[in-house]
Amino acid sequence: MKVLIVGSGGREHALAWKIAQSDLINNIYCAPGNAGIAKVAECIDIGVNDFEALADFAQKKGIDLTVVGPEEPLVKGLTDVFAARGLKVFGPDKMCAQFEGSKAFTKAFLGKYEIPTAKYQEFTDVAQAERNVGIYGYPTVIKADGLAAGKGVIIAEDEQEAKKAVAEIMRDKKFGKSGEKVVIEEFLTGTEASILCFVDGGTIVPMESARDYKNIYDGNKGPNTGGMGTYSPNRLFEDKQLNERVENEILKPIIEGMKREGMHYVGVLFVGLMIEGGEPKVLEFNVRFGDPEVQSILMRLKTDLVEIMNACIEGRLEDIRLDWTPQSACCVVLASGGYPAEYEKGKAIAGLEDVEEGIVVFHAATKAAEEEGIVTSGGRVLGVTALGESIDEARAIAYRNVEKIHFEGAYYRKDIALL
Ligand code: AMP
Ligand code: GLY
Repeated sequence: MKVLIVGSGGREHALAWKIAQSDLINNIYCAPGNAGIAKVAECIDIGVNDFEALADFAQKKGIDLTVVGPEEPLVKGLTDVFAARGLKVFGPDKMCAQFEGSKAFTKAFLGKYEIPTAKYQEFTDVAQAERNVGIYGYPTVIKADGLAAGKGVIIAEDEQEAKKAVAEIMRDKKFGKSGEKVVIEEFLTGTEASILCFVDGGTIVPMESARDYKNIYDGNKGPNTGGMGTYSPNRLFEDKQLNERVENEILKPIIEGMKREGMHYVGVLFVGLMIEGGEPKVLEFNVRFGDPEVQSILMRLKTDLVEIMNACIEGRLEDIRLDWTPQSACCVVLASGGYPAEYEKGKAIAGLEDVEEGIVVFHAATKAAEEEGIVTSGGRVLGVTALGESIDEARAIAYRNVEKIHFEGAYYRKDIALL
């Protein structure tokens, strides 16, 4: 088989790395890829939203399976364009991708199928939204309806902040069309967790759990990032009862609801949860693998990923057994100094060859430069990922190897997977 991976981050490197281990695969292409991905796939210079060029490429090369990493092309309908040309895609179509493309759509679905979530109201009229910012007291949560590159959720501590958020989203159009609608939501407290699931249109199967660290600084302080590290399995899910509640109160009604809505969802559904007193509530859906959750998760997956993806597309996920190593995984992200605000790019990376055997360094934003070798090209640069007999061992091995890699301004959290 020939596979095309769409994307250029750490998630796509992890996907390419895992797909390369499949016996079913002869060639892997990645559009546009990065310097790490180039070690396992042929990178081609086509952007993730250039659907016609991607589909032309897939047809010309005889691609059997296209795997889409990021949300934007899914929300914009890459899968539909490919399907119209008879090309197979692992990733939901435009209708199903509304689960990430519209907060209001997701909240309406959750409400209709009585899936636990925060109370909410949606507004398309800015004056009405401003009058109602306090309906759930403070703090409250203001969300731009559409995609906003992970920045469209604002936790407002008081009325002034809430009104400012509404004005930025709806009046100033800070996130463009994504702000034509806002969702005002009850603020939930508790512990956050996410569950990534394979979905084949009729069956939903959770993967092993992982924990993400979203804030830039140790102790979960500072601004949100795309994710500064992960470990798997998540200690929170040692609780059997929690697993059962997630299965019965969240996952089962999701797949039933999808069927009733005529949504044929194929791909990964990322279910973001808030858990308090053992009770899980849905915060959000994403329609793709989490980054960097997938780096830790795929390190532990023993089953052929391409076989799973084929089964999802063909509607026979029920027949596939997912095998996981009992070992734990830990991924520590090395970021450019200054991220998630301003940072410099083009810093030469040293020490990539010095890591121990068994360590996988997933590249999130790197480029091959003529003189310097591999250089940084974005905020999150590398994900140093290790397996160990326990979470503590995986953590120790990951950090031991992080210290072998250097670039000017490199920053990483010191408390990933720390109890
Ligand atoms: P979302 O994109 O909806 O997951 O929101 C991003 C982040 O905002 C989540 O990971 C939470 O940390 C936070 N968040 C979203 N909704 C709520 C809520 N109702 N209560 C508390 N925090 C929330
Ligand atoms: N790490 C969070 C996400 O992928 O959305």
